[in-house]
Amino acid sequence: MRHTMYSKCLVTGAAGFIGSRLCTRLLDEGHEVVGVDGFTDSYDPSEKLARAAALAARPGFTLVSGHLADLPLTRVLNGSEVVYHLAGRAGVRASFEREPEYRRDNVESTEALIEAARRSQTVRRLVYASSSSVYGNAPVPFREDGETVPVSPYGQTKLDAERLCLASNGGELETVALRYFTVYGPGQRPDMGLRIFAEAALSGRPLRVFGDGSQSRDFTYVDDIVRATRAAASTTASGIAINVGGGSRVTLIETLDLLSRIVARPINVHFEPFAPGDALHTGADLRRAGEVLGFEPSTPLQEGLEAEVEWVLRRRRAARREAA
Ligand SMILES: NC(=O)c1ccc[n+]([C@@H]2O[C@H](COP(=O)([O-])OP(=O)(O)OC[C@H]3O[C@@H](n4cnc5c(N)ncnc54)[C@H](O)[C@@H]3O)[C@@H](O)[C@H]2O)c1
Repeated sequence: MRHTMYSKCLVTGAAGFIGSRLCTRLLDEGHEVVGVDGFTDSYDPSEKLARAAALAARPGFTLVSGHLADLPLTRVLNGSEVVYHLAGRAGVRASFEREPEYRRDNVESTEALIEAARRSQTVRRLVYASSSSVYGNAPVPFREDGETVPVSPYGQTKLDAERLCLASNGGELETVALRYFTVYGPGQRPDMGLRIFAEAALSGRPLRVFGDGSQSRDFTYVDDIVRATRAAASTTASGIAINVGGGSRVTLIETLDLLSRIVARPINVHFEPFAPGDALHTGADLRRAGEVLGFEPSTPLQEGLEAEVEWVLRRRRAARREAA
């Protein structure tokens, strides 16, 4: 079955970094969007509340506040044809201390959502936000049909939820899992590297870096992620995982050099031992994304990082105005 146009869709994790950007894009395209968010304690809820308030001010958007494991999902899903499932507890390091929360938010919630989607009369497709963390320290570039050996509870819960989604493909429900690679850009989560680096660089604070800086990441700009996620709703392929990466791999040292040039000041870096759970290198093989989604990343790291730094600067100015 080929879907080309959806009038109503549901986004879980709508108040999150990526979910809110996806909702904005869907509303811009004229879709009716139901956004679900449980405003979990993964980071400062005021950031999530601000994103939700901006979305709620737009015609066509309905906010459903609640945790997926508690909501009456059959009712919430009613009328939606596509579900973009981005709700989840993200972040590698915290997952070692809070495994039960990661299991509830990522696996049990996904299970409940899939069950309701299967019962639904209207839902035809579910797009799941999986993660490059499912690969652990597999050889780069990571290939979708290569090995998955997560090295953190976070990666394991994302893989477990991805398997639930893909195993549910068939009958009236089509499912696709997108393995996002380190997403960045304006609005990035406060616990993520580039946001922490940008805030430290702008304030002149010393920066703690885990490892010797030789680890590398495939950074993906948030609007590229949103574009791939939209494309996954209208492809005919289903029952598969697809990498969504930024198209190039950059070491931490190179990233900090670039950031230092963007903020036009030196960055004072303290190197500390490697943190458990962090993959040494990540890199996406994007052939499947090209073939199945027609996806190619289009935002170079410099451009995307400039946009993120600009956003951090605007936030700092707004906070100063408020404090004055
Ligand atoms: N940001 C990245 O680099 C990245 C990389 C790979 C995968 N992902 C995945 O993409 C998704 C979005 O990531 P993000 O960076 O926007 O994170 P985020 O934490 O900003 O957004 C997730 C949102 O989901 C909500 N939520 C979490 N569990 C919920 C539940 N069970 N029920 C209802 N609401 C719930 C949270 O309150 C939050 O607002 C996550 O599933 C994450 O695992 C993100």
